Amino acid sequence: MTMLATFWIVLLVALNAPAGNGQSVQTDPIKSGFVGDTVELRCVFINGKPPVKISQVTWQKLINGTKQNVATANPDLGVSVLPPFKDRVSFKHPAVRQRSPSTLEDTTIVFSNLRLSDEAAYICEYTTFPAGNRENMVNLTVFARPVTQMTLTSSTIVARTPQRKIPVASCMSANGKPPSVIKWDTTLNGEPTFQETRNPNGTVTVHSNYTLLPSRETHRQKLTCIVTYHTDRFIDSVILNVQYEPEVKIEGFDGNWFLNREDVKLTCNADANPAVTVYQWKLLNGSLPNNIEIKNNTLFFKGPVTYEFGGTYVCDATNSIGTRSGLVEVNVTEFPNSPRFDDPDIPKAVHSSGAAIGGAVGGVVLLVAAIALLVFFLRRRQRTFKGDYSTKKHVFGNGYSKAGGMPAHPPMPKNLQYPDDSDDEKKPTQISGPGGFESADQDFDGNSEDLKRPYFTVDEGESRDYDERTLPFQYDPEPEITDDMVSQNDGSVISKKEWYV
Ligand SMILES: *[C@@H]1O[C@H](CO)[C@@H](O)[C@H](O)[C@H]1NC(C)=O
Ligand SMILES: *[C@@H]1O[C@H](CO)[C@@H](O)[C@H](O)[C@H]1NC(C)=O
Ligand SMILES: *[C@@H]1O[C@H](CO)[C@@H](O)[C@H](O)[C@H]1NC(C)=O
Ligand SMILES: *[C@@H]1O[C@H](CO)[C@@H](O)[C@H](O)[C@H]1NC(C)=O
Ligand SMILES: *[C@@H]1O[C@H](CO)[C@@H](O)[C@H](O)[C@H]1NC(C)=O
Ligand SMILES: *[C@@H]1O[C@H](CO)[C@@H](O)[C@H](O)[C@H]1NC(C)=O
Ligand SMILES: *[C@@H]1O[C@H](CO)[C@@H](O)[C@H](O)[C@H]1NC(C)=O
Repeated sequence: MTMLATFWIVLLVALNAPAGNGQSVQTDPIKSGFVGDTVELRCVFINGKPPVKISQVTWQKLINGTKQNVATANPDLGVSVLPPFKDRVSFKHPAVRQRSPSTLEDTTIVFSNLRLSDEAAYICEYTTFPAGNRENMVNLTVFARPVTQMTLTSSTIVARTPQRKIPVASCMSANGKPPSVIKWDTTLNGEPTFQETRNPNGTVTVHSNYTLLPSRETHRQKLTCIVTYHTDRFIDSVILNVQYEPEVKIEGFDGNWFLNREDVKLTCNADANPAVTVYQWKLLNGSLPNNIEIKNNTLFFKGPVTYEFGGTYVCDATNSIGTRSGLVEVNVTEFPNSPRFDDPDIPKAVHSSGAAIGGAVGGVVLLVAAIALLVFFLRRRQRTFKGDYSTKKHVFGNGYSKAGGMPAHPPMPKNLQYPDDSDDEKKPTQISGPGGFESADQDFDGNSEDLKRPYFTVDEGESRDYDERTLPFQYDPEPEITDDMVSQNDGSVISKKEWYV
């Protein structure tokens, strides 16, 4: 078999043209177009040898097993296109369109302005003499582009309690054939629902809602709908606008409101959409102190702290969705707390237990230190000290009120006025007795880098910075140290290691 013969056989099979007695009718097996498109339905007669005479050509629509005539071409009578197709179907070849067609070898028809109802099998039938009928068929498929749109269920979604899942956005691809595929792209934790509706004309409407629990977290989140139809992609996004009640937090109480502290205030911070319109302050079981000034969401306490400032403060924040409260329990202490525990990052529960442990251990260590110093001092009196120990600063932050026999509380240095907002300013306050530090260090291991820094024991000259930070807070750890010794050591005492010698 030659290459050429193989080629022809492949071609004939491909053209769906079964050969019979030399004559055949060629059509494309399938053809498709979109609604409104124009398509050509090809039909070509391959004559044999000897040639046969074409008496008539008829195009028929095959639907539900019955045939309906579309167009006819006759060498003597001309062409005729029947009413339902008259405006939209014509023979392509000008020679065929003449009153007496000279040739009917190519009776391809042009089908314009396609409708969904045009989808059918079409038969091109040649009536010949003397060979009889020869026919072939083309299946025409009509597609319909969908109309796609994405909509927010409503411009604002309200997060109500009790929470309930609601559709927030909807994506619809209407009257498509074949149906579109809808997908959602978002980081939101909702769920889509899908619904397909088949129309009588064969198109399908695909509808998808995205449902979720509206909340503060879903506000301003992006939701994208991706509709795929054939090779087309429709992508649209919306940003959710979720309204929610205020989420209230009272800031300003640092756990260290001691008597005579100045400039304390409480601020009611609320995250709300829409914004909070009304803030209301109250004191549980009592009325607000007189010397208070309220500006917007802030409660300014005028004058130094007194015990009257103590109590449970409640702030009610109201927006159009609702009212929520925040509360803070303010305790006024006589003296500043162990400043180290003022770090707002440390949880309250740990805070108090840490302070207790720190205080207890600090007290024990102080006692040991006192004895050690006394022994040291007495020995020093006996012989001249050949100083080769390394001098260390030792700072006691929380021991002043706990170690028995301490002198009256020293006057507050200026920078012990704890500002609420400056972390940096609080760092110097992170000092403590050595024991307190050690036990707390295990508790908070890894929690805070700051806590790992040895604020309490600083090698002389190691860091100017630490000196500056710690010096203002030094309290004389041992009242029995005489003046000349303190001056000798420049406010320093020997390290813990040496106390235990
Ligand atoms: C084809 O048949 C179906 C039911 O089998 C019928 O619903 C439809 O109307 C028919 N179409 C035509 C054009 O007769
Ligand atoms: C064309 O459609 C007819 C029925 O409508 C079906 O029997 C035939 O297999 C189809 N041919 C092709 C090539 O799809
Ligand atoms: C989408 O939500 C609308 C409005 O709530 C509802 O009418 C429709 O049935 C829902 N559709 C789907 C597919 O869930
Ligand atoms: C198909 O039917 C639907 C409603 O049944 C209609 O909205 C749509 O326009 C129709 N599509 C075409 C292409 O006729
Ligand atoms: C606050 O007052 C309420 C009733 O007025 C009372 O039931 C409650 O025990 C009081 N709480 C405190 C801590 O006094
Ligand atoms: C209240 O807040 C608004 C906006 O934050 C500000 O413009 C206004 O000055 C504040 N009023 C007072 C009394 O602080
Ligand atoms: C404040 O003081 C009261 C009574 O002294 C105590 O019950 C409460 O635990 C303290 N709260 C804090 C946060 O320290």
